[in-house]
Amino acid sequence: MSMPFPLVPEVATAPAEEIARILSDPGFGIHFTDHMAQATWTEAAGWHDDRIEGYHALALAPAGAVLHYGQEIFEGLKAYRRHDGSVWLFRPDMNAARFNRSADRMTLPQLPPEDFVTAVRRLVEIDQAWVPDATEMSLYIRPFMFGSEQFLGVRSAAEVTFVVIASPCGPYFADGVSPVKIWISTDLSRAGQGGTGAAKCGGNYAASLLAGRQAHRQGCSQVLFTDAADHEWLEELGGMNVFLVTSDGRLLTPPTSGTILDGITRDSVMALAPQFGLTVQERPISLSELLAGIGSQDVVEAFACGTAAVITPIGAFRLEREGQIEEFHLPSPFGPKTADLRRRLVDIQWGRTTDQFGWTTRVA
Ligand code: PLP
Ligand code: COI
Repeated sequence: MSMPFPLVPEVATAPAEEIARILSDPGFGIHFTDHMAQATWTEAAGWHDDRIEGYHALALAPAGAVLHYGQEIFEGLKAYRRHDGSVWLFRPDMNAARFNRSADRMTLPQLPPEDFVTAVRRLVEIDQAWVPDATEMSLYIRPFMFGSEQFLGVRSAAEVTFVVIASPCGPYFADGVSPVKIWISTDLSRAGQGGTGAAKCGGNYAASLLAGRQAHRQGCSQVLFTDAADHEWLEELGGMNVFLVTSDGRLLTPPTSGTILDGITRDSVMALAPQFGLTVQERPISLSELLAGIGSQDVVEAFACGTAAVITPIGAFRLEREGQIEEFHLPSPFGPKTADLRRRLVDIQWGRTTDQFGWTTRVA
């Protein structure tokens, strides 16, 4: 039986002036809407107790499983306000499907995709006043699930909590949509074969933080991981997938061979690429190919993509090789193909062009 996520009990919403003040400069992941969706799963009763309530702190026992063994997964998607005031989601069915793939890897229960989408839709519908209408701003939605059982034995939790919260946001990077510099890590790894790299689980992000700190110390915005075995093959960034554009019109991206996240933006970019004369090559890309390609101007553009980052141009890569710090600048730091793909993607998301793939769905 599907879950309706009723609103219980009604809570007061923030005054319109307070919402307007926050939406004028929301930042990323700082402010949260008035409500949250929640449901509980137990081995005995399955999913139950679905509801939308006022945004509040969760009560979790100190012995709650997630605090000890990190059994947690999450998703990220956005709601967009169009010129006519309507509010739309972008490919929420893909997030629902990936949530279940992540759940499978982390031995969390499957959540029927329709329940995932209902929880998201209901929350956005109820909190629609929080969807900004300014350019490049949207409502970031964060569904997550974790083991909430009180038990210190190492096994899958028999009680699990599902929550959806939402946060109005502007661009993910502080500099907005300008080219970023990326640190390539050739010592720390995010994920290895057989590990959890393809799951959207909190542990992957915890594992990426030290490399992220190194990146910041190197004056870079994010880290690009290489494979754990040889540190020779490009994987993905801490929170984004990566693409390269070649001078002969190829769009290269590493394959999702179990260690990287199967990004929904990545999938969308690959679907749009032929419209801009780009031939997609999803195949292993070595660090040597990247660096030599920039040197010879065969690799002309690079960008990172994800729900939070949308499509963010990469201006330069920095790394340490044989004890030396080196920097490689892209011939086109915000090149025409990156700009074309970005414009088309955001135009679809904000309903400014035909949605020929049927990716968008109206909520309010
Ligand atoms: N890779 C990682 C590690 C991410 O956290 C994200 C963001 O969700 C992505 C890639 C891009 O995925 P998507 O486009 O589905 O947001
Ligand atoms: C997203 O784009 O949804 C992500 O999960 C990235 C996150 C690091 C903010």
